[in-house]
Amino acid sequence: MTNRARKPYIAGNWKMNLDRLKSLDLVKTIKGRLGDGNDREVAIFVPAIYLADVTAVAQGSPLGCGGQNIWHESNGAFTGELAPRMLREVGADRVLIGHSERRHVFQEPDEWMGRKLRAALDADLLPIYCVGETLDERKGHKTERVLKRQLEAGFEKVAAVDAHRITVAYEPVWAIGTGETATSEQVDQAHRSIRKWLVQRLGDEAANLVRILYGGSVKPDNARELMAIESVDGLLVGGASLQAETFLPILEYDKR
Ligand code: PGA
Repeated sequence: MTNRARKPYIAGNWKMNLDRLKSLDLVKTIKGRLGDGNDREVAIFVPAIYLADVTAVAQGSPLGCGGQNIWHESNGAFTGELAPRMLREVGADRVLIGHSERRHVFQEPDEWMGRKLRAALDADLLPIYCVGETLDERKGHKTERVLKRQLEAGFEKVAAVDAHRITVAYEPVWAIGTGETATSEQVDQAHRSIRKWLVQRLGDEAANLVRILYGGSVKPDNARELMAIESVDGLLVGGASLQAETFLPILEYDKR
């Protein structure tokens, strides 16, 4: 199965940026430019406080809207956290799990990932599970080992039947927000090792349903090249997803 047997998936991660009005403007613009959604899947990951408003605007279009994090419980004394069902309730249909900023800035450990991924699936949210090595780990030739460790943690409670709802994003930590993109060879190598792990873990058929996105300094001028890599099924875009002028050309990477 080649990557184009899987629908390309372009996602924007707004992180802790924009304000309410700018969010609404941007989602209107993106919505206006989307086709019927048949040839690509497009989604934005929005600060949770704006999700209700943003999903209301996106309604009726194929644009997916998601949260940037969840806690795995559905109720309880977890000050500051959000349950998966709460994201669903305000119209989100997906969520990021294990983003590198959650792992490295907020010290989320591997052990949480399996529970979060399971909780997302159980609440009917489509997870993008983010993995990636730090610069030190890459320099120490530990990339494959780190990816394997993160995948094992995240997929702990996942079965082959869940595969079609899961996306993995390979985001080398050293490429996030730095302007430094991984080379095509580095991306391809990492994506192949993720795919190999998925095949071993889920079997061929289920593993082939999981899309693997690349993230880390994706820009309008490198999107096409990244999408030309056979093992790349889509892109997770941070900084360049904050403005229509940079996000739309990435969505339309094949139309220029
Ligand atoms: P960036 O962020 O595109 O700004 O590097 C990517 C991400 O963190 O998902």
